[in-house]
Amino acid sequence: MVHKSSSAYQTQKIAQNLAKKYKLKGDILALTGDLGSGKTTFAQGFAKGLGIKEKIISPTFVLIRQHKIPGTQRTFYHIDLYRLDIIEDIKSIGIKEILEDKDNLILIEWAEKIEKLLPDSTLKIHFEKTSDLGRKIWYT
Ligand SMILES: Nc1ncnc2c1ncn2[C@@H]1O[C@H](COP(=O)(O)OP(=O)(O)OP(=O)(O)O)[C@@H](O)[C@H]1O
Ligand SMILES: [Mg+2]
Repeated sequence: MVHKSSSAYQTQKIAQNLAKKYKLKGDILALTGDLGSGKTTFAQGFAKGLGIKEKIISPTFVLIRQHKIPGTQRTFYHIDLYRLDIIEDIKSIGIKEILEDKDNLILIEWAEKIEKLLPDSTLKIHFEKTSDLGRKIWYT
């Protein structure tokens, strides 16, 4: 199914709804789409849906931010690989260890950069900008 969004708010709502299904389990969400297509906006809504109150800012420079999921013992990882160029860097920032812990709930922007490291169970979320405010969002 393809979601059509016509505002940042709507994109956040789509993500917030999806988050309800993920509140109680570990998983990996792999986001792909051009610059400005709405990946961080989606991450903000997703975190809100998990009950996370902290402000979600793009981890473009730090690559990884972590937030405790309220009411659980689990951690939400928000990873942004935009600045990552070579697979060697991925090893050095410890992503493999984070991916291996099945209790973690992980959302990755620019996930195509580590496609080979992602398990088959990964939910891929695609973003396409169709106009100024228009976005298509779909899952594979
Ligand atoms: N329907 C929409 N859904 C999401 N964002 C929208 C929409 N319409 C407009 N926007 C705007 O587009 C921008 C999307 O930026 P965002 O940082 O979420 O993209 P991104 O995919 O994370 O980009 P980057 O690859 O640079 O990290 C925001 O400024 C947001 O307000
Ligand atoms: Mg982003």
